[in-house]
Amino acid sequence: MPRQRLQKINMKIGIGNDHAALEMKLQIKEFLEEMGHEVVDYGTHTSESCDYPVYGAKVAKAVASGEVEQGILICGTGVGISLAANKVKGIRCVVCSEPYTAKLSKQHNNSNILAFGARVIGIEMAKMIVTEWLNAEFLGGRHQERVDMIMALEEE
Ligand code: RB5
Repeated sequence: MPRQRLQKINMKIGIGNDHAALEMKLQIKEFLEEMGHEVVDYGTHTSESCDYPVYGAKVAKAVASGEVEQGILICGTGVGISLAANKVKGIRCVVCSEPYTAKLSKQHNNSNILAFGARVIGIEMAKMIVTEWLNAEFLGGRHQERVDMIMALEEE
């Protein structure tokens, strides 16, 4: 079967992980680079136990500042690292364990960081989720109004 190609190439994507997801992070990084994307790896770079909020925040700040266009975060479940990322102003980080939610999170919610769990899904599912997410486009319109409502909560 021909390999599925990503439509958008040459994007600058930030990636981050904790110790539970080092191997999957490296595989996803390679997958993205094979597709033509530039990947900025914010760590962690070893399998030594570490604190996932540190890496969630690094990638989230890079996305929020425009240093990278989009972000991918991986920890054991995807939960802790996404919670940390969502504390950074301007971030809409989603945890996905299947591609449908990943695609809709971009189309309807304009998610700017994708998270998943290395202890929850396998590498092939992770690649499929990443592909759907990167290929999806925000649909705007009524969805923009709802996203604006979400972002207005940051000002309260
Ligand atoms: C690390 O043991 C684990 O707590 C972390 O990878 C993640 O699953 C947290 O949400």
